[in-house]
This record gives sequence, C-alpha cells and structure tokens, in this order.
Amino acid sequence: MRVLGIETSCDETGVALYDSEQGLLGDALYSQVKMHAEYGGVVPELASRDHIRKLLPLIREVLAQANTDLQSLDAIAYTAGPGLIGALMVGASTGRALALGLGIPALGVHHMEGHLLAPMLEENPPAFPFVALLVSGGHTQLVEVQGIGQYQLLGESLDDAAGEAFDKAAKMLGLDYPGGPLIARLAQTGDRTRFRFPRPMTDRPGLDFSFSGLKTFTLNTANQHRDAQGQIEAQTMADIAAAFEDAVVDTLAIKCRRALQQTGLKRLIIAGGVSANLRLRERLEEAVQKEKGQLFYARPKFCTDNGAMIAYAGCQRLMAGQMDDLTILAKPRWPM
Ligand code: KG4
Ligand code: ZN
Repeated sequence: MRVLGIETSCDETGVALYDSEQGLLGDALYSQVKMHAEYGGVVPELASRDHIRKLLPLIREVLAQANTDLQSLDAIAYTAGPGLIGALMVGASTGRALALGLGIPALGVHHMEGHLLAPMLEENPPAFPFVALLVSGGHTQLVEVQGIGQYQLLGESLDDAAGEAFDKAAKMLGLDYPGGPLIARLAQTGDRTRFRFPRPMTDRPGLDFSFSGLKTFTLNTANQHRDAQGQIEAQTMADIAAAFEDAVVDTLAIKCRRALQQTGLKRLIIAGGVSANLRLRERLEEAVQKEKGQLFYARPKFCTDNGAMIAYAGCQRLMAGQMDDLTILAKPRWPM
C-alpha cells in the first residue's frame, strides 16, 4: 500500500510518500516560521495562503524524489485536525480533490495520532503496547497505546501545553518565535543551580500537568534582573532559560515514570515538537532506565510537524480497512 501524506495544520507544509513494503519513499517540508516570526506567532490567514502556494509544488517534489507519479498511489491521507481551520482546509480540500480525481480513498488523519506514530518511522520501532508522551505546541498528553487506534488518555495539561510554555517563556525573555529551540540553546550555557523553578503538580498523585504557573515564575525572575534599560545580562538569561527548561523537563520525567509504574508498561515513546529537546531525552532516558524500560523517539525532523507521520498513520488506517466518505474533513478541535 502506498499513501501520500499531507500536513497543513499550522505553519509547516509537509508532504511525504510512505509505502508499507518499502518504507518512506520521499518527504519534503516547507516551514513558514520566518514569515510568522515577524509577528511573534502564527498569523492564521497568512498560514493558509502560504500552504496554498507551497502544497502542489511539494507534492510534485516528493513524487519526483520517489521517481513515481500520482497513479501509483493507493490513498491520500491529510491532517483533518486539530489545527487552524483555514490551514487545515487547504490540505483537506487538496487531498480530497486529488483522491476523487484519482478514484482512490482519502483519509482524514488526527494530527496527534500522526505525532504519536512518528517513532515508528525509525529503525527500531517500539512494539505495542507502550506509553506515549505527546508534547507539542498545542498538546501535552500521556496516552496508553495498545495498538493503532487504541488510545487511552492517562493525563494531560490543564492549561498551557509544554511547547506553548516554552514559546511564552521565550517571549518574556525577548526571544523569537518559536522559542522552544532558542530556550534549549540558551540553556546549554546556563547555570542550572542558580535559580530553582517549581515542578508543578508533582507533589500530588495523578498524571495531569499545569505549565501556566511557570510562565509567571519566569516573568517574575526576569523582571527582578532587568537593568534600568529593561535588559537582562546574557549569563542571567541563560541561567533563567536553564532553570525553566529543567522545571518543564523534570516535571515531564516525573509523570512519565509514574505512568510507566501505573500501567506496568516498559516502553515509553515521546513525540511532538518538544520531544526534539535533548535535555528531555536525557532525563527520560534516566527515568526509563530506573523502570528497566526503553525509550523511543523520532529523528528531530519528524518530531516537529511533517508529512511523513501523516502518510504513515494514513497507511496504517488504510491497511486496517478504514477510509472516509467524500466529506472534506477539517476539525479545528478534535479529541484523539
Ligand atoms: O509538534 P509541533 O511542531 O507543532 C504542534 O503540533 O504544535 O511542536 C511545536 C512546538 C513549539 O512550541 C516549539 O517551541 C517546540 O515544539 N519545540 C521545542 C524544541 N523544538 C521544538 N521545545 C523545546 N525544545 C526544543 N528543542
Ligand atoms: Zn504538531
């Protein structure tokens, strides 16, 4: 089975071709990050327009990489949600229309299911069942995964997502959007012992998260160290970034370990943009080893939004006999 995957839920246009026998045959990504950086966040209308400009050229590029054409496809998978409605509509209507023209099925894939399955694209993929930590700009969830489509929510953020917290903390420090990778880079030169930020909700049982308090903590700490011009000295910036990163990472690690203990499972996968964070990977590796378990994640370019995860998820759904009717599916809010 060969499936073309289309991702346009936010600010990256992603396309990929996945074959159930041969694996990933091609993938291409266009990031709008530079365009939105000027505004300090994603501007939905600009995102939709840019997806329209980039999507068909990227589809052509992926087919060329794979040395094949549209006729070789068995289905088209597109991200149906959650995400920005205009941006989703571009991928959904293009995918649905191409499928209709080719006389093949179309599948509307859940963006977070795509993220969750991304580690399956790597060389030693995890076997089911496992615990998944989904950490992106819009979601922070712990999920028990028994198989494709068998997902049970164990816990989630009650306010900001982990990625969102990174982005907001970065903004407070005067860094660009998206701030996650920038905080991570700054933190490398930070003194991790100078400030200690709280580990929210770790002192009580349960697997839910709350990250909005860390934002306030970051702002207060930053404000205490501004000079007369409102500037923060470079080393202090790095120290705050390190304290913030450690607080988020420790909190996630504590809850992941708890989720493994609670479910009795030994495999943990991490997915979504924040799973590219090296400190998080390090700390989770330690946590999982204490539980005599194993940690899995995707290569960095498949942690953030991409077409490969949508092609892969669509292919699994197709092989399970699922396909959608002629509806163009686009759901800005959609529980997994
Ligand atoms: O999964 P993703 O690409 O898009 C969504 O579905 O939201 O995740 C983007 C998020 C952003 O908040 C970004 O700041 C964060 O992932 N991120 C990181 C890192 N790389 C991306 N956060 C912390 N450390 C990183 N290295
Ligand atoms: Zn995402």
